[in-house]
Amino acid sequence: MLDKIEEAGSNKSTFFELLGGEASGIENIRQLVETFYDIMESDPKAQPIRAMHQADLTSAREKLFMFLTGWTGGPQLYIERYGHPMLRARHLPFVIDESARDQWMYCMIKAMHQLDYDDELMKKLAGQLYGVADFMRNH
Ligand code: HEM
Repeated sequence: MLDKIEEAGSNKSTFFELLGGEASGIENIRQLVETFYDIMESDPKAQPIRAMHQADLTSAREKLFMFLTGWTGGPQLYIERYGHPMLRARHLPFVIDESARDQWMYCMIKAMHQLDYDDELMKKLAGQLYGVADFMRNH
């Protein structure tokens, strides 16, 4: 999928660039987020975190897409629209324990597998996202 993958080990490129940059980074992040929530909706292992979300995942999909685009180094779509993400505060209404964190990561890693992400990129991206997911833990 990625021809610039050798750079994933260096700091030369942002994840956004590794995901295709201006040409296809946005499209790839959209696809990752759609796959992530499709898995959350259908995989019984993610049922507890699925139940925390609203019945309609449309806005969750849109917001995670916007957030991750900026977070990976692309255009700051989320911040332009909603201001500072204050992600931890926004997650406080939900009980996020180790199990919830691991379910979130399970969906994300499964999505990357389904989309045939290169191993090296997957490890790096999952490692960074794990840091964010663990930071959301409030229980
Ligand atoms: C650790 C486990 C996590 C759980 C259980 C969780 C759960 C949730 C829930 C229930 C919502 C509300 C969605 C709705 O309105 O239906 C939400 C919103 C959101 N989550 Fe998470 N989340 C987790 C981790 C993360 C991580 C790691 C990120 C970013 C990398 C993230 C980014 C977001 C964003 C951007 C929103 C929308 C915030 C807003 O503007 O309202 N979440 N999350």
